[in-house]
Amino acid sequence: MTTLLTSETSGSHSTSAKLGIASRNLNIQKIRTDFPILSRQVHGRPLVYLDNAATTQKPQVVIDAISHYYAYGNANIHRGVHLLSQEATDAYEAARESVQHFLNAESSSEIIFVRGATEGINLVAQTYGRQHIGAGDEVLITAMEHHSNIVPWQMLCEEKSARLRIAPISDAGELLLDEFEALLNSNTKFVAIPHISNALGTINPVAALVEMAHRRNIPVLVDGAQAVPHTTVDVRALDCDFYVFSGHKVYGPTGVGVLYGKKQMLEAMPPYQGGGDMIRSVTFEKTLYNQLPYKFEAGTPNMAGVIGLAAALGYVQGIGLDAISAYEHGLLEYGTKALSAIRGLRLIGTAKEKAGVLSFVMEDIHPHDIGTVLDQQGIAIRTGHHCAQPLMQRFDIPATARASLAVYNTTEELDALVFGIQKLKEVFA
Ligand SMILES: Cc1ncc(COP(=O)(O)O)c(C=O)c1O
Repeated sequence: MTTLLTSETSGSHSTSAKLGIASRNLNIQKIRTDFPILSRQVHGRPLVYLDNAATTQKPQVVIDAISHYYAYGNANIHRGVHLLSQEATDAYEAARESVQHFLNAESSSEIIFVRGATEGINLVAQTYGRQHIGAGDEVLITAMEHHSNIVPWQMLCEEKSARLRIAPISDAGELLLDEFEALLNSNTKFVAIPHISNALGTINPVAALVEMAHRRNIPVLVDGAQAVPHTTVDVRALDCDFYVFSGHKVYGPTGVGVLYGKKQMLEAMPPYQGGGDMIRSVTFEKTLYNQLPYKFEAGTPNMAGVIGLAAALGYVQGIGLDAISAYEHGLLEYGTKALSAIRGLRLIGTAKEKAGVLSFVMEDIHPHDIGTVLDQQGIAIRTGHHCAQPLMQRFDIPATARASLAVYNTTEELDALVFGIQKLKEVFA
């Protein structure tokens, strides 16, 4: 295994050869050197990082943007007359414009900085949701949700005596479109769907789902936590009402994420949290709220995180999302073929439209043991329910082992994974 990985240069060349045209547009070796952590050893082996759906590694440009901000640019924003505050404000607002362009939103005031996808969903549930959903109403989600797109709606439904409905999926992990549409009825007041499933990799036909809901005047939130790193997202083309994602899954920092909302939706919504920055004026009798987007950004925001996020999005755009998608698709096909050839291994999630997630179970070996033995070989995968317990129940399994891909992964790393699994089978034989 080591020989497959020690020569990075030959590694990237053979990845190109194995994936053909998909990788020729990208210099994977150069990309790998952008990520300092990829040069480290784990248990004496070169790190093979295949836990990207949990969080991605950070390129030097992101690390530099954050440390430069703290070293030379740190000041609180929006309220200062001094130069540092003005510069920090400019950088923060420039980052908002970067996100606007990244998502193709109409206006930067539609971009709300939050802590992550989870907070974005909670914000919508607690504002739009509490305002519009009442007793007997329904919120429709899918069977493939991350807990972050289940629990906020469940909490809302409990509070309002509303009903959470679940659109079913096939054994391949594809949403059953007819059943989804049949669940939309006059009680449905909101739809929340994942763009890409974190546990299966399924890419949902979001534009078509939004269209089905909009035909009945039902607004739609899209959980894009797993989509933004892997595919171009155009919120206007999708026509979704809300879109959320987390910085740390797209090569950016933790603790920062984005809620996109259509302006007319955000304007009609009450604030989420009260505090500094979200106000126009305050008296003890009454507070007038600030305009968008500040109405939803109470308190000192994560300035360094937002600046780091803009650097991450710039990095991704520099490579090009189309090239990333094509390359990762090649890796996914390569990995799918290699894993499928292992006797006793079953892939969970075999949708036709799929992003770089290889979830699997093995006869007689618990996913936790798979993860532990692979870790000894320097290979980081995730094992467990992936914050999708109802999905595990749907497949009647307690957990899966999940290798998830990023642009810096190579076919040699997938070879190492396969080699590691073969070795694991010997250990457990
Ligand atoms: C599909 C999906 N939605 C939401 C989340 C929550 O993201 P965060 O924990 O960054 O808020 C995740 C994280 O794994 C995810 O994969």
